[in-house]
Formats: sequence, structure tokens, C-alpha cells
Amino acid sequence: MTTDGRRAAVTGAASGIGAATAKLLQSRGWRVVCLDRNLEGARTTAGSKGVAIEIDVADEASSIKAFAEAGEVWGGLDALVTAAGVIETTPFLETSVAQFRRLFDINVIGSFLSVREGSKLMGDGARICMVASISSYTGGGYVASGSYATSKGAVLTMMRSTARALGDRGIAVNAVAPGFIDTPFVSSAMDDPERRQEVVAAVGKVGTAEQIAESAAWLVSPEAEFVHGSTLIADGGILMR
Ligand code: NAI
Repeated sequence: MTTDGRRAAVTGAASGIGAATAKLLQSRGWRVVCLDRNLEGARTTAGSKGVAIEIDVADEASSIKAFAEAGEVWGGLDALVTAAGVIETTPFLETSVAQFRRLFDINVIGSFLSVREGSKLMGDGARICMVASISSYTGGGYVASGSYATSKGAVLTMMRSTARALGDRGIAVNAVAPGFIDTPFVSSAMDDPERRQEVVAAVGKVGTAEQIAESAAWLVSPEAEFVHGSTLIADGGILMR
């Protein structure tokens, strides 16, 4: 099936998984709106064919404005990938309420606002892919804290709630749950090379943003038409170890 001319919005498009997904979709003929709080980064990803819009996904007014603008670019959306997110490495029981709230504001409320506003621009046949994490199964460990894992568990539940809420409108909602992926997200959390080596040895498999982009791009493609309310675990087999 062709995806030529289909319209996608990707949050977190300035870096890592979001950037790789936006570029992959573009390479397959999609028209892509790149949303991020890092506008320069989003512009770089968008290139000359795409469009970049600034957003703070955790902020309601910013999300409403950004998605309204995104809807005007090509008159609607056929797909949304919610990749904007932040990590937390503080050990679970040492986590402050402010740290916990930041995770929930960005990872959970941020995803909610993006699907709420993004879905307003969608019609029958549109598709959403939310980016969760295998930490929602493991409870954290390796790099991510329990608080991060808890926020991603909420994202997975929200994916199913959204699938229920939007299914009747013909909008499919799924999630990809990546394992340990080499992006600025994890490297900034592991700037000590020894710690990095330790974690890489424990995890065994480190993936690339491009590998996760393949999963996200498939979930929003017409080829995945029979898939709804599902989670695609893309972790190189970490959960099978
Ligand atoms: P990244 O740090 O490379 O990219 C995250 C992007 O989100 C950045 O461009 C950043 O500017 C943007 N962002 C953060 N807060 C924002 C906000 N409030 N408003 C708008 N944009 C915001 O990270 P990466 O690795 O590409 O992560 C993408 C998603 O994948 C995240 O949701 C993360 O939780 C998830 N993930 C990543 C894994 C990994 O190992 N890298 C593993 C599992 C899930």
C-alpha cells in the first residue's frame, strides 16, 4: 500500500527515536510535521520538505496551539507518533515529588495532550503510535528509575484507553515499547564511561533509534491496519533473557 502524501506529526522529533521516525516516514513519502520544544532540532529533522513547530508537550496551551498549527499545514493528520519524553535516573525511593511530577507532566500528561489534540485532526483510517518503554514491564533497572518506569506504565495504559476512546472513529492506537536504545536520552543519563560499560554488558543488546523508527513507522502504516490497542516490544530480546 502506498503512503505517498500521507500526513504525520511526530513529537520529540528533534532527537533520537522521534527524529529517526520523522526521517523514515519522510523517506517513505509521508509529509511530516516535526514537533519539539527544541525548535532548531525539529527544523533540522524536518529539512526542506517537512515543517517544524515548537511545542512543550507538558503545557496545555502550547499543545493546543502547536497541534492547531500542525492541522493547518496540510489540512489534517493521518498519523501521530508521540516520542517526546524525558528520563529519570534517581533511585526510586530517593525520588522527590518534583522529579516524579516532571516525569508525569512530560511523559504522561504530555502524551495525553498530544493524542487529545492530535486526534482532533484525524479521520477514519488514521493511526497513532505512542512510545512507551520495556521499563513498564521491568519496573526500571539498568538506567531508568522506577519513577520513569511508572510513567511509561501509565503511557501503556493510556494507549489502551485511547484505543477504546478512538476506535469507534476508525482511529487505531498502538504503542512501541523500546528496549535500551543508543540516543542522547540514555547517553546523557550515563556520562560516566565505566557505568555505561556496566549497563551495556548487563543489557546485552543496544538498539538504534532507526530500529525503533521501523516499528513506529509500521504501526502507523496502512499495512498494520488490523493492529489496534497493541504493544510492539522492540528490545532486541532483553525481556527474553
Ligand atoms: P531523546 O532525548 O533523544 O529525544 C527526546 C526528545 O523529546 C527531544 O528532542 C526533546 O527535546 C523532546 N522533549 C522532551 N521534553 C519535551 C517537552 N516537554 N515538549 C516537547 N518536546 C520534548 O530521547 P529518545 O531516546 O529518542 O526518547 C524518545 C522516547 O523514547 C521517549 O519517550 C523515551 O521515554 C522513549 N524511550 C527511549 C528509550 C531509550 O533507551 N532511548 C527506551 C525506551 C523508551
